[in-house]
Amino acid sequence: MKEKNKPILITGGAGFIGSHVIRHFVKKYPVYEIYNLDALTYAGNLENLKDIEDKSNYHFLKGDISDVDLVNQLFRKYRFEAVIHLAAESHVDRSIKDPLAFVRTNINGTINLLNAFKSIWANNFEGKLFYHISTDEVYGTLGETGLFKETTPYSPNSPYSASKASSDHFVRAYGETFDIPYVISNCSNNYGPYQFPEKLIPLMINNIVENKELPVYGDGNYTRDWLFVLDHVKAIDLIFHKAELKETYNIGGLNEWKNIELVNMLCDLADEKLGRENGTSRKLITFVKDRPGHDKRYAIDATKIEEKLGWKPSVTFEEGLSKTIDWYLENKKWLVHITSGDYLEYYREHYN
Ligand code: NAD
Ligand code: TYD
Repeated sequence: MKEKNKPILITGGAGFIGSHVIRHFVKKYPVYEIYNLDALTYAGNLENLKDIEDKSNYHFLKGDISDVDLVNQLFRKYRFEAVIHLAAESHVDRSIKDPLAFVRTNINGTINLLNAFKSIWANNFEGKLFYHISTDEVYGTLGETGLFKETTPYSPNSPYSASKASSDHFVRAYGETFDIPYVISNCSNNYGPYQFPEKLIPLMINNIVENKELPVYGDGNYTRDWLFVLDHVKAIDLIFHKAELKETYNIGGLNEWKNIELVNMLCDLADEKLGRENGTSRKLITFVKDRPGHDKRYAIDATKIEEKLGWKPSVTFEEGLSKTIDWYLENKKWLVHITSGDYLEYYREHYN
């Protein structure tokens, strides 16, 4: 008789990073039964998974991770042996407008999943895993020098990062108190196909294409460490299969860019691809009011995952950005679908 496939719950699989994780796991591991639990908020889009939705080891479950009854019911029904938890409210600017939405999903939702996982497996955690995906933003901000290490104290500055920090603490606390086998990774800024155009890179690409202003916050001298999303997915795969339990891993690209330099580069690359005269898109750059509590600089020390698990980013920034712009230019329909409705309202309110 065929052995039953291992049931794995991936939350937030209709979002940006989640959809890449789902595609990777569904294709690479036919021995896993992959369940995607997603509430399909403004950021979730099943079009992201069109190419794999018919695979026999993929299943979509629509639902909210903060719904206690639903989550318990799903764990009882499918007996998920592992969880890769990505579902979250993920945008800093939205967290400034509506912090409670971030508490509900990022904190309550995570605790809810931990409780359901604990109640199903409490008598035998052997071979089980709760993998919590987090962000480097929990560490707060860096000055001109230094890097975030796994031992850097948490010091979140936005409601988003405070809610992610809180969820990290709960996962760790459940490990200590209830012996839940967990692992956490904290990654730097991702970019790539399927990212919702409220985040810097896709927002700028979208506006360049539409000849709209490119809103750069403050003086544009804020620094982020950018990683191509598929390099994050490779790290997630390695951590899921090889990490030591109850450990945390930082993931990042050693690829720091000031926002204004990055936007200039995007403008030049896009001009070339769109056949516009060099310098055309840079004219769209507009410096706008700064984000309150804006973190100056993020940068990751990824030595631990490099040395312990042999991970290294494989996509150069030039290559990754070029692929990303090409993808957005080739998928205008996706952009139109996802930027209608709620997003348009948010955009008008936020940038006016
Ligand atoms: P995203 O906003 O693109 O996607 C989030 C997904 O979660 C969406 O599909 C949404 O529908 C779903 N979701 C939201 N609330 C839900 C709820 N209550 N119940 C069920 N599903 C819900 O986010 P992303 O950029 O793909 O980020 C995924 C994870 O990775 C998040 O936990 C985020 O904190 C973390 N992370 C993101 C980055 C980044 O640069 N994007 C970097 C480091 C870590
Ligand atoms: P974002 O993509 O929102 O990611 P995070 O704030 O989580 O790092 O923003 C990346 C950087 O770009 C951040 O310094 C804020 C800045 N930014 C702009 O200058 N203009 C914009 O329209 C957006 C969305 C971000």
